[in-house]
Amino acid sequence: MNNKKRIIVGSSGASGMPLLIECLKIIKDNPDYESHLIMSKGAEITLSHECNIEMCDVLGLADYTYDESEIGAGPASGSFKTEGMVVVPCSMKTLSGIHSGYADTLLLRACDVTIKEHRNLVLCTRETPLSPIHLRNMQELSMMGNIWIIPPMMTFYIHPESIEEMTYHIAAKLLAPFGIEAPQYKRWTGNEIKTYD
Ligand SMILES: Cc1cc2nc3c(=O)[nH]c(=O)nc-3n(C[C@H](O)[C@H](O)[C@H](O)COP(=O)(O)O)c2cc1C
Repeated sequence: MNNKKRIIVGSSGASGMPLLIECLKIIKDNPDYESHLIMSKGAEITLSHECNIEMCDVLGLADYTYDESEIGAGPASGSFKTEGMVVVPCSMKTLSGIHSGYADTLLLRACDVTIKEHRNLVLCTRETPLSPIHLRNMQELSMMGNIWIIPPMMTFYIHPESIEEMTYHIAAKLLAPFGIEAPQYKRWTGNEIKTYD
């Protein structure tokens, strides 16, 4: 038993797998937190289309991993204490499951538990264009406490020199609600950009 804070990291089949990888790296580099990763089958397929990295190497970035079929695993229960959950990326199908409480996989069950326990839930929802159904699901979830809808929006005020820099910035934003301060995150202070250190 350690004293690290648990963050459940869910990942579903939307575009944005580099964001998942960056989030896992940031958590791994932080001595106070540990990641519990649940990837959907859709996430696995999307990963193979988007990144030159093997599934086993992504799993290796997490402290603990679960198959989405493991509906009796720790994250399926409210008594499994966590700081909350981030779903990165979050497909419109998974968004719909969260919105309706249709918890037929460990990923969706963990989201359901996170909501019922009033813990932080960050959804990196990704689709374009967005239909009225997608927008309604996001809007209604956003009205509940402790739910952050954070689509992977580009940021130009940091003058990113690479797509990796932009990815890092978004990943840092996704983890900020859990109190994680990504070291290279460029914070807007009004007149100038500052990093944490
Ligand atoms: C390469 C690729 C990219 C995709 N991008 C998106 C996306 O950005 N948003 C989305 O909602 N679905 C996207 N999909 C479709 C989902 O993967 C599909 O609806 C899947 O059933 C989602 O299941 P899951 O949420 O259980 O992972 C994509 C699929 C592929 C193969």
